[in-house]
Amino acid sequence: MSTATTERDALYARALAKHWFYPLTLPDGRKLTSSHDGRVDAIHHTRARMLDAFLADRFADDRSALGAIDLACHQGWFSLQLARAGFGRVEAVDARREHVEDAALLADIYQSNAMRARQSDVFALKPDVDGTHDLVLMFGLLYHLENPIGALRVARALARRACVIETQVVPHMAGMVDWGSYEYVRPLKGCFGIIDEVDETHAPEASVTGVCLAPSTEGLLWLLRAIGFREAWVLPVPSDGYEQLRHGKRVMVAALV
Ligand SMILES: C[S@@+](CC[C@H](N)C(=O)[O-])C[C@H]1O[C@@H](n2cnc3c(N)ncnc32)[C@H](O)[C@@H]1O
Repeated sequence: MSTATTERDALYARALAKHWFYPLTLPDGRKLTSSHDGRVDAIHHTRARMLDAFLADRFADDRSALGAIDLACHQGWFSLQLARAGFGRVEAVDARREHVEDAALLADIYQSNAMRARQSDVFALKPDVDGTHDLVLMFGLLYHLENPIGALRVARALARRACVIETQVVPHMAGMVDWGSYEYVRPLKGCFGIIDEVDETHAPEASVTGVCLAPSTEGLLWLLRAIGFREAWVLPVPSDGYEQLRHGKRVMVAALV
């Protein structure tokens, strides 16, 4: 057996021994075990289709000179999608070391030279150190954070052209708010729901602090414009897509610099 074959088999063996959050198949056709018995596959497939449609719309030309960053990449499923879509450089970043190791393993298995995985908290990223990127992805992160507005500001600072954010959302509340006096009122622009993950910070998909604020869709769109994106909108969901996205309980939002 050649050294290359032995190395490839060792990579496959490592992957087969792990649990994966995503529905993955090795290049030789063997399926990897998904940690939720396939119950969450639909959400990943729907999001991947929505991201593909956005790329076809806004990044239609040759992407080999473009760079992207995937914030909270988990095991790198969407980073890999961007690399396969032709982005020349894809930074896969997550706070959890074990996810970064898995993302790096995927990059090796699928022989992606574009993808580079590294560990960082989203709040530690700075454009002067970490660069700016044509596309910033922030999927499944916002509603696990106690400072979601700060994270949106990080995404804006790192973005050269566009940012795509995917998040769980809470019901919107609208109306006028007395602001010091009933004679001085302000319109409510959106709201956040407080979600408790305090006892789940060990969970691979959870918050690292346990205190979470999930925005309303209207609030998120308002915030994106307020922090410096010129345009923001909710991306369309396929009619057979995952129920939460179809019913507006999660949204994927595009924002342009
Ligand atoms: C629900 S998973 C979403 C993963 C992936 N982006 C997706 O949408 O499938 C949340 C991810 O956020 C990461 N995470 C949580 N807090 C973070 C932080 N402050 N900075 C960076 N990553 C964080 C977790 O480790 C986990 O991988």
